[in-house]
Amino acid sequence: MLKGVVSPMRSVPDNIAKPPYALTGQVKRRPESPVKSPDVIARMRRAGATAAEVLRLAGEMVRPGITTEEIDVYVHELCIARGAYPSPLNYQHFPKSVCTSVNEVICHGIPDSRELEEGDIVNLDVTCYLDGVHGDTNATFAVGHISDEDRQLINVTEECTWLGIAAVKPNAPLSDIGRAIESHAKKHRYGVVKAFIGHGIGEQFHTDIQILHYYEPRNNMLMRPGMTFTIEPMITLGSDKHRMWDDEWTAVTIDGKRTAQFEHTVLVTDDGVEVLTAPGAVSAQSPLER
Ligand code: MF3
Ligand code: CO
Ligand code: CO
Repeated sequence: MLKGVVSPMRSVPDNIAKPPYALTGQVKRRPESPVKSPDVIARMRRAGATAAEVLRLAGEMVRPGITTEEIDVYVHELCIARGAYPSPLNYQHFPKSVCTSVNEVICHGIPDSRELEEGDIVNLDVTCYLDGVHGDTNATFAVGHISDEDRQLINVTEECTWLGIAAVKPNAPLSDIGRAIESHAKKHRYGVVKAFIGHGIGEQFHTDIQILHYYEPRNNMLMRPGMTFTIEPMITLGSDKHRMWDDEWTAVTIDGKRTAQFEHTVLVTDDGVEVLTAPGAVSAQSPLER
């Protein structure tokens, strides 16, 4: 994939509440409980539902000829229209409001002037900051008609994500998640990227909990009701190894083969899991209240 031109950073109106890094680009981690209070959970449901809706609408824009910059502008405006700050913007100086990762880009692609072409695959990673908390979700979309090989990669990656989610249960070790994901990917002889992982999330975009997408027995912290984290496997047709572009964000597969990703923000419940960014999750108000 060729690099395009990145336009200047967009601004967010004053009436939108911003995370602490929005002004400086610097992320200072502070202690945050892995188990959330009912109040934080209620706010995370709204942030998650908002991110899910923005991702769905942005996905509907994907077609041959659109630039990733145009998708970024759309995501930026969709977030603001919902009272949310687009979390990627100025996060550690990331210059745009969504990550757009095309073909061999594993993650953190920067929207630019490149037009999507028929047969491309593109991951849109949307995170919304609303009511003081983040909701993080992504999906990989086909640009027009794609090859059977790419369709299969996308389908299996989505299955891996949902198998990882199904492994979320109170008192089970976090390593159950990666084991479920890796075993499904292996069945299809796909690679599982190890260098980028899921993360705790809440009032901060990334907190201490680490979610590996492969089996690592030492990843043995037990899941507890009230924990919130992301599950976001990156699955490859070839090598699972990456290299970075000189923009210091874009991670690509070392062999240039394609890769797909899906992501959800989840909550551990008393008897299993609630997917805070589930498709059709209801944002702000339920349809019955509207
Ligand atoms: N949304 C990404 C994740 O899933 C993080 C993007 S960081 C950014 O963790 F700065 F690139 F936006
Ligand atoms: Co994430
Ligand atoms: Co994300």
